[in-house]
Amino acid sequence: MRITTLLGSARKKGNTATVLEWIEQELGAMGHDVERIYLNKKSIQGCLGCAKCRETPHEIACVQKDDAIDIMEKMILSDATLFASPVYFWGFSAQIKALIDRGFSLVTNYHRPGHTSLMEGKRVGLLVTGAGTYGDNAEGLFTSFDRIVEFLLARKSGELYVGECTTPDALPEDIKNKALDLARSMVEK
Ligand SMILES: Cc1cc2nc3c(=O)[nH]c(=O)nc-3n(C[C@H](O)[C@H](O)[C@H](O)COP(=O)(O)O)c2cc1C
Repeated sequence: MRITTLLGSARKKGNTATVLEWIEQELGAMGHDVERIYLNKKSIQGCLGCAKCRETPHEIACVQKDDAIDIMEKMILSDATLFASPVYFWGFSAQIKALIDRGFSLVTNYHRPGHTSLMEGKRVGLLVTGAGTYGDNAEGLFTSFDRIVEFLLARKSGELYVGECTTPDALPEDIKNKALDLARSMVEK
């Protein structure tokens, strides 16, 4: 399978990148074709809310011609996309949230008859790291992701929250096993 991973942390060797790498290595070892996109180096403007994309339903008709277009094209061409983000103030990092908002151009007729999406049926997964516990920090983010999956008509293939993170070298050993489980679930579920 072709798998795109989206690193939403600016820290290339941080907690999110470390766990993501374990997942990517497992996917690679299973013979899948994995491409990581480091969002922090991409130019992704926030959605303008102009709704021009509504006028052309079957293509990414966003008026802003920045890196978000290429990234969304890769997501459409992939079998699976894994979103990876640190928790920032109970939500996604700005880097990944900007891309999620631009995903407005992937969907038409949300909550109306004829709901369509360029991501329909695609596998999507979520990896999140945070300093605190799930209930106090990440629950809302995971709920929001479930809604995004519904919006995209995609199919959730796995999720993992790694809480109480300090430094990458202090990540507990059992997290690696959970990361490998997420890798497998991304291609099997
Ligand atoms: C701006 C900012 C906001 C944060 N907000 C939260 C938060 O609301 N809840 C939480 O558990 N951790 C929060 N953290 C901690 C990070 O989520 C945590 O350290 C994460 O593992 C960092 O990932 P990284 O090493 O991949 O950058 C925050 C960190 C920063 C820098």
